[in-house]
Amino acid sequence: MSETATDKALFEAAEAIRAKAYVPYSHFSVGAAILAGDGKIYAGCNIENAAYPQGNCAETSAIAAMIAGGARRITRIYVTGPGTIAVTPCGGCRQRIREFADPDVEIISHGVDGERLVQTLGQLLPHSFGPDHLGK
Ligand code: THU
Repeated sequence: MSETATDKALFEAAEAIRAKAYVPYSHFSVGAAILAGDGKIYAGCNIENAAYPQGNCAETSAIAAMIAGGARRITRIYVTGPGTIAVTPCGGCRQRIREFADPDVEIISHGVDGERLVQTLGQLLPHSFGPDHLGK
């Protein structure tokens, strides 16, 4: 897949914030960059905690930045991490993304030493439960 200017900007935003990840336990730094409905890019990194379950994934941080910035829709999301295996969003983050994205939104997962994997949210989270179930 050829890299578009948008994906280059998303990759660079994810990598810039990945460098700030707080990962003293896993040493596995993740960056996420959202292209939002307002045309802006919102990024986040993972933030771990000594009480392990209280850690935040990068996607969660990026969604928090998007909401804090006043945007409400995810139109594209790029996730970067170390190694060659594509860093795909965890199950919980797929559901968090679902809250703000349609099933056809593309998620680009990238272990930066390997190939990018481009999948839709619908592929990663088929038959999902979402706001529409609650009439939203
Ligand atoms: N992690 C993310 O930030 N996003 C993902 O999509 C997968 C996993 C983080 C959580 C934890 O800080 C570290 O990666 C290892 O699981």
